[in-house]
Amino acid sequence: MNAKEKGYFTEENSVEVVTSRNADAKSARLKEVMEVVTRKLHEAVKELEPTQEEWMEAILFLTRTGHMCNEWRQEFILLSDVLGVSMLVDAINNRKPSGASESTVLGPFHVADAPELPMGANICLDEKGEDMVISGRILDTAGRPIENAVIDVWQANDEGFYDVQQKGIQPDFNLRGIFRTGADGHYWFRAVKPKYYPIPDDGPVGLLLGHLGRHPYRPAHLHYIVKADGFETLTTHIFDPDDPYIHSDAVFGVKESLLAKFCLMIDPVRAHELGFRDKFWQVEHDFVLAPNPRL
Ligand code: BEZ
Ligand code: FE
Repeated sequence: MNAKEKGYFTEENSVEVVTSRNADAKSARLKEVMEVVTRKLHEAVKELEPTQEEWMEAILFLTRTGHMCNEWRQEFILLSDVLGVSMLVDAINNRKPSGASESTVLGPFHVADAPELPMGANICLDEKGEDMVISGRILDTAGRPIENAVIDVWQANDEGFYDVQQKGIQPDFNLRGIFRTGADGHYWFRAVKPKYYPIPDDGPVGLLLGHLGRHPYRPAHLHYIVKADGFETLTTHIFDPDDPYIHSDAVFGVKESLLAKFCLMIDPVRAHELGFRDKFWQVEHDFVLAPNPRL
């Protein structure tokens, strides 16, 4: 009997030896996951043939990534983001029917308890930045308005920071709010034009991006979570198509359908009506919710 026949581990039979050891796994799904991961990982190692030093460097990278995970910082999610895995998982779990708005990543800056505000409220609490008015409708796939849709929005300020990144500098809940549609499905609120910003890049993932010759920036965007009874919850953004990073989002979150039109308006009368200083940005974007398939 040779080594293979005896079931000893060899370079050639490595996958079979490891996966057959999992034959009595308590969960069929776990068994399947470990079979695929083992197969792909062994394939990568066989192709790359890392030196012991390279393998230790990979282990230390993952160790540093783990050490950068706590209540406020999740470096493993950032790693998944910059590898495109977050967007892939999002795509697989959010295949939408034709005509429905597309989803994108949630990101780490959502706050669960933002205030519900009257339609038209200004979510900019510190009067910094270029004024902007955002409006649109929440519709079903037949084009009918959805009443009582709850729209949770949040965005970075004109310097590219969320309120939670600048505690004591920005007011709490700056540039966040929750709005509820009436029978016409219409929404509108006032804000400021967001700016591009870097994903947190002071950890191992930022270092990795640097070594790969990649920048850490996300193009300017507004986040939305739109919920309504009888519909799939939509987690998405709208993006400024003129942003310098629109074609190189560090986390691959941009989709063509999520590009909104940011129009610079020079209309003193309308500006005055909106409580703005003078010129302002206007954005109109409708969202179409997919029906909840489980209903
Ligand atoms: C965000 O858009 O807030 C975000 C998404 C992924 C990583 C970091 C930030
Ligand atoms: Fe963001």
